[in-house]
Amino acid sequence: MAPAFEQVPEDTETQTETPHNAPHTVNNDGQVDYKSRVTVVGSGNWGSVAAKLIASNTLKLNSFHDEVRMWVFEETLQSGEKLTEVINRINENVKYLPGIKLGKNVIADPDLENADVHFVYGETGNCAVKDANMLVFVTPHQFMEGICKRLVGKVREDAEAISLIKGMEVKMEGPCMISTLISEHLGINCSVLMGANIANEIAVEKFSEATVGYRDKREIAEQWVRLFSTPYFLVTPVQDVEGVELCGTLKNVVAIAAGKVAVMSKFGFHPCNSACELNQSYYQMLGFVDGLDMGNNTKAAIMRIGLREMIAFSKLLFSSVRDSTFFESCGVADVITTCLGGRNRKVAEAFAKNGGKRSFDELEAEMLQGQKLQGVSTAREVYEVLSHRGWLELFPLFATVHEICVGHLPPSAIVEHSEQKPKLSVF
Ligand SMILES: NC(=O)c1ccc[n+]([C@@H]2O[C@H](COP(=O)([O-])OP(=O)(O)OC[C@H]3O[C@@H](n4cnc5c(N)ncnc54)[C@H](O)[C@@H]3O)[C@@H](O)[C@H]2O)c1
Repeated sequence: MAPAFEQVPEDTETQTETPHNAPHTVNNDGQVDYKSRVTVVGSGNWGSVAAKLIASNTLKLNSFHDEVRMWVFEETLQSGEKLTEVINRINENVKYLPGIKLGKNVIADPDLENADVHFVYGETGNCAVKDANMLVFVTPHQFMEGICKRLVGKVREDAEAISLIKGMEVKMEGPCMISTLISEHLGINCSVLMGANIANEIAVEKFSEATVGYRDKREIAEQWVRLFSTPYFLVTPVQDVEGVELCGTLKNVVAIAAGKVAVMSKFGFHPCNSACELNQSYYQMLGFVDGLDMGNNTKAAIMRIGLREMIAFSKLLFSSVRDSTFFESCGVADVITTCLGGRNRKVAEAFAKNGGKRSFDELEAEMLQGQKLQGVSTAREVYEVLSHRGWLELFPLFATVHEICVGHLPPSAIVEHSEQKPKLSVF
């Protein structure tokens, strides 16, 4: 069972607000509790960095209890130890964020929802979500439906949620955003936080920005902004949950396209020649510098076309989506960072280098050591929406990424197909 964190005496000089500014709750003893309790559901690369950011703030701000619970999908490490035990002993997620201290007030908890289990062993009933009124969801999107089902009836009715998850579910009735999935299953409001956020860079406190998307309550958005903001992590609220969330979701598909272009550029890919693929002799014929120059221009074109398709797709799905959202960190900035450095781009590059002969599943297992790739499954989900609604021709880049991922088209098709001008204009 996860140990309890011993609260340190409050340093009033570092407190920047009074508890009465914060939304309050009534605890089990009927007493008003002005302090919010935060639980992070998920503990991968970004989940661990999110816990670190939050934990540094809960220690400073009066409106939060110091302790941050982090639900960990339990694993046994090669050493034979449980991951949660190691995190609680050395304050580091050695598997998903090695070398970074999370903060002593982060408590890893393997028990998501079964508080009663602990009573059986004569210990106080607790679990990761039981007491939390601020729930931060940050797992790979494919696990969320199962997690939500486990949490039905287990979270506080007054809890507020935020999703940091990039991805969506596609159901018979259409696409379902993860924030909607959380709201519908748990009956609570759910905001989102997305942005140009490669976790490993934020872990070492390099400056970056993020966007909180909220539905209607500005004070809730401000509470989330306070919880996440640090001098090196600048968070801006925007009243557009779907726009922010779709940005975070769709940019992974664009990054897959960019990964394929990245490798083509090294080998001197020429978009006008359909027979030219990853061919060393062709590259020698063209010349290295020409090939690289073409690569940068081509990559920029992929980002532009990708962003255009992101805007069009988002607005077709939700007419409320705002143009201005795409100019926030969650929009254009996330497209750029993910196309330059993210894991989707990296694995897509390896996929193209192997001429599409090694599957994404194989490369994910080999290159990411337990971390999950989102772009390929999102590309499939987007493709399902496009084909179901008869929109395939309107989104040549999105459609082509999926066709390449499943082996129906060669990696080189990304540029040939993206050359077609989308027939839809949203401007
Ligand atoms: N890593 C980043 O740089 C980054 C940045 C922004 C957003 N995100 C988003 O954050 C979300 C979480 O990504 P991450 O980087 O924290 O995770 P990750 O890919 O690093 O790790 C995978 C996580 O999934 C867990 N897991 C494995 N099997 C599971 C199961 N059956 N049920 C539940 N959990 C299971 C693992 O324990 C691990 O915590 C994703 O939606 C991702 O797109 C990631």
